[in-house]
Amino acid sequence: MRVLVIGSGAREHALCVALSSDPAVTALACAPGNAGTRAVAEPAAVDVADPVAVAALATGWSADLVVIGPEVPLVAGAADAVRDAGIACFGPSEQAAQIEGSKSFAKHVMAAAGVPTARSWPVGGPAELETALDEAGAAGEGAPYVVKDDGLAAGKGVVVTTDRDAAVAHGHRVLEAGGAVLVEEYLDGPEVSLFAVTDGTTVLPLLPAQDAKRRDDGDAGPNTGGMGAYAPLPWAPPGLVDEVLATVLQPTVDEMRRRGEPFSGLLYAGLALTSRGVRVVEFNARFGDPETQVVLPLLETPLGGLLHAAATGTLADHPPLRWRDGAAVTVVVAAPGYPERPRTGDPVTGADAEGVLHAGTTVDAEGTVRSAGGRVLAVTAVGADLAAARRRAYERVAGVRLADAHWRTDIALAAVEGRISLPTGR
Ligand code: AMP
Ligand code: GLY
Repeated sequence: MRVLVIGSGAREHALCVALSSDPAVTALACAPGNAGTRAVAEPAAVDVADPVAVAALATGWSADLVVIGPEVPLVAGAADAVRDAGIACFGPSEQAAQIEGSKSFAKHVMAAAGVPTARSWPVGGPAELETALDEAGAAGEGAPYVVKDDGLAAGKGVVVTTDRDAAVAHGHRVLEAGGAVLVEEYLDGPEVSLFAVTDGTTVLPLLPAQDAKRRDDGDAGPNTGGMGAYAPLPWAPPGLVDEVLATVLQPTVDEMRRRGEPFSGLLYAGLALTSRGVRVVEFNARFGDPETQVVLPLLETPLGGLLHAAATGTLADHPPLRWRDGAAVTVVVAAPGYPERPRTGDPVTGADAEGVLHAGTTVDAEGTVRSAGGRVLAVTAVGADLAAARRRAYERVAGVRLADAHWRTDIALAAVEGRISLPTGR
């Protein structure tokens, strides 16, 4: 099976590493890829935002399966274009990807499917913003305000703050840029990312993971695309995955099919375990980054066969997933200035070591690896337990060099130290 992966982040590097160890995968390409994916997959050029170009590449390369990593090509309709060209594709249609591309669409689906999520107040214009904040404030009894950009914002469109002026300012910024705004009820409790592979009918959940969204240690600083992750979650309540399958994942997939917009690909549920039960924070239509970097190394089931079964509607016949014992940790090494204004073009050394997944990297004409994005590397390790995986991941971080790089030093630390508690009421 010839597999073409679309994208250029550490998630795609992790996908390539897992696919390359599947004996059924006879050829692997990653477009556009990065300096790291070149070690395991053929590079190819493509504009990922152009569905026609993605389909043309898949045809020209004789792909048997296309795996689309990021949300941008999915929301642009790349999966539809690939399928129209007669090639199996792992990734939802343009319509179904709206579950990530439009937060208000996702809210409609959840309401129809009875899936628990935060209450929300859509904001049509500046005048409605104050009213929405008043209503959310009255309902929230002093809880922080949550103000979201309704569209795709790479994890950076949300402000959670007790400062009303900052909440108003964020709402105005999004509205002035022509976006739509959603004010939401604040969800307390730890967050969980749970991925499910689905063919539109059958749903196979993967291992729960947690990512670190804020830039700095202690969950301080601005929201980012994700600064690190670990899996599995030693503090997760028993039965969590079954509960989320029954109350969130399966009803959502069933509702999408009922609407005539079946969702096939990777459904990512971002969850909060609140005092009132599990709530969906958001859905994504693709593998999470950096959670993929810790979930895939623990998967023993060959990835190519699994994604092909989802892409061809045969997941019901797929054997149950097998997982390796132990844990995995990934630490993102970011460029100075991330997330606001990352500096790029700096040399990166030590990045060909084991476990170092590449995110924003490129190779210049002299063969030097250089930073080419905000998140530059995702340094990953597995271990017998979370503490061992964490130790090894940070040893590997010490082996890479990028001038003025920034990384969090506390990825998975609270979990290792048993400091994550579930709110009472659960
Ligand atoms: P989103 O883009 O919707 O995934 O939001 C990004 C991050 O903002 C989430 O992972 C949470 O950490 C935080 N967040 C979003 N919505 C809420 C909410 N309703 N209550 C508390 N935190 C939230
Ligand atoms: N880790 C957050 C995301 O992939 O959206």
